Amino acid sequence: MIRFRFLVMLALMVFGLNACYYDNVEYLYPDGGDCDTTNISYSTDVWPIINSSCTGCHSGAAPSGNVSLENYNQIKISAENGGLLGTIRHENGWSPMPKGGSKLPECDILKIEAWQNSGYPNN
Ligand code: HEC
Repeated sequence: MIRFRFLVMLALMVFGLNACYYDNVEYLYPDGGDCDTTNISYSTDVWPIINSSCTGCHSGAAPSGNVSLENYNQIKISAENGGLLGTIRHENGWSPMPKGGSKLPECDILKIEAWQNSGYPNN
């Protein structure tokens, strides 16, 4: 009987911890819970985000900060040197982007991060 109670306690503890874990994820990533970061594609996920929030300043003959984000190769270079995620995550040491605008939605940031983590596929 004692052993059974112990198991019930243990089960409650495990479920309890799980609940905390999920709460935390939602707290840290307000949109992160429903964010689908599987099978991220450059052309349908990454490019539309950058094209709508970044290329206004980062394209043409004199791009802001001398950073061009007009095509795959240029975006990959920014991803490789850490600037792409550093700026959109507002990390220390990087100028926060989009400059003068609000931070990108967390799900967009997670998608760009997933693209970077999967080795910048040009798909
Ligand atoms: C309104 C214009 C504007 C927009 C929109 C903008 N940027 Fe910038 N960006 C700048 C300027 C200006 C700089 C030069 C540094 C500075 O003045 O903060 C810069 C610098 C950068 C740098 C180099 C940062 C560093 O610290 O070395 C990166 C990378 C960058 N931007 C990425 C982005 C990305 C990604 C987006 C879209 C999410 C974006 N920018 C949107 C104006 C802009």
